[in-house]
Amino acid sequence: MTTSARTATSFQQRIETREARIGIVGLGYAGLPLALAFAEAGFPVVGIDLSDGRVQAVNDRRSYLVDVPEERYSGIEGSLTATTDYSAIADLDALTICVPTPLSKTRTPDLSFIISAAESVAAHLQPGQLIILQSTTYPGTTEDVVLPILERAGGRAGRDFFLGYAPERVDPGNRTWNLHNTPKLVAGVTPECRARTEAVYGTVVNDIVPLSSTTVAETAKLHENTFRAVNSALANELALMCDKLGISAWEVIDAAASKPFAFMPHYPGPGLGGDCIPVVPHFLSWRLREYGYTSRLIDAAHEVNSSMPGHVIQKVADALNDHGRAIKRSRILLLGMAYKADVHDTRESPSLEIFRQLQLRHADVRYCDPWVPVLDIGTERHLSVAWTPDEVRNADCIVMLTPHREFLEDPHWHEARLIVDTRNVLPAGQGVWPI
Ligand SMILES: NC(=O)c1ccc[n+]([C@@H]2O[C@H](COP(=O)([O-])OP(=O)(O)OC[C@H]3O[C@@H](n4cnc5c(N)ncnc54)[C@H](O)[C@@H]3O)[C@@H](O)[C@H]2O)c1
Repeated sequence: MTTSARTATSFQQRIETREARIGIVGLGYAGLPLALAFAEAGFPVVGIDLSDGRVQAVNDRRSYLVDVPEERYSGIEGSLTATTDYSAIADLDALTICVPTPLSKTRTPDLSFIISAAESVAAHLQPGQLIILQSTTYPGTTEDVVLPILERAGGRAGRDFFLGYAPERVDPGNRTWNLHNTPKLVAGVTPECRARTEAVYGTVVNDIVPLSSTTVAETAKLHENTFRAVNSALANELALMCDKLGISAWEVIDAAASKPFAFMPHYPGPGLGGDCIPVVPHFLSWRLREYGYTSRLIDAAHEVNSSMPGHVIQKVADALNDHGRAIKRSRILLLGMAYKADVHDTRESPSLEIFRQLQLRHADVRYCDPWVPVLDIGTERHLSVAWTPDEVRNADCIVMLTPHREFLEDPHWHEARLIVDTRNVLPAGQGVWPI
């Protein structure tokens, strides 16, 4: 990077003229679409990832994510290269960190990826560079964790380098809301840090929402996902209550949703999945425990949502029992292992837990998922069976878990003996058990 990039004016100019070189650390679900968006906007972009496979795939213009079709590479006006070598940072004007932030089994945030990425960035930090954290994380991470790492290497934020936070809000598989038309929350550890972060994202996102601090931006992201988790828990609890009342939770929710204000429908299902909604609220509750505060709604929502796979198993047991059978030795076909329709992602998918629990009860379990041809559960590898009338006919019980379009476009329901429907995709009737 040239020293001219140090002043605010020259930074803005380099953004406007697309001379600024942009880096993305972590080329996953969040980082790769962002790298492509900047390259499409005309910037020279460098992706940095520890995975040789992903780096090679980007350099070969091969797709490895469902949301990134290979055709996207042909629309690049700037350039996109990838490397495993952090020394590439030395040439950059701005860099976004999009590395994973998992939770441990005890629901403690694992910041090791952020810390490792920040340390690698710090080792190559240049005067005037803008570093933006985009990973989802607990309130205070940017200022308490990333800032000290960078300041140890590069002087003062807002003067010698710049640090912002701009959380990822993408919803994989969503065809309406994408990176460009989903407003971007943007904050900085100083006003100049925020202004530079706004300038960078303003080139690829239509609407920027500037915030007063990185802690507000971190917490806003967690609140969005907590809203989903708590409302999903409400819908799941309604399903459990309607089950006892003998009425359809979906009919109740649709009736409530006819009110044109103050109601946003959420629907029941087999449990929460994906690496955001089931995980992210715990960043907030974990952080608040340090202040002696217990987040009651987050904990209650987790309890209800994580009970749903067990409820589905009970439904399977009841449905089979009604037909004079036990789970043991019954042939059970699970439809959909991805956590939601029309994506490949099985992270945190409740279907995995349902598969495991049925195996423990000695069922003959198989699955069909056109989006997940191979599935590793523990040390076992399973292959998807084909979506055929024979598979449906030969199952003692079918469990609809993920309503992929293939199942709905080519239904073989009339061949089924018994269906437990966790998604309300089948009309209630003989042989169909709603959850
Ligand atoms: N996936 C989503 O839909 C989504 C949505 C909202 C927010 N997020 C958040 O975005 C962040 C990234 O998630 P993701 O889904 O893109 O993860 P991912 O696992 O798909 O990709 C992360 C990438 O980072 C790379 N990586 C890990 N450590 C690295 C390091 N030190 N240096 C360079 N590369 C490194 C990995 O090899 C991987 O390619 C997380 O905080 C996640 O919570 C994701």
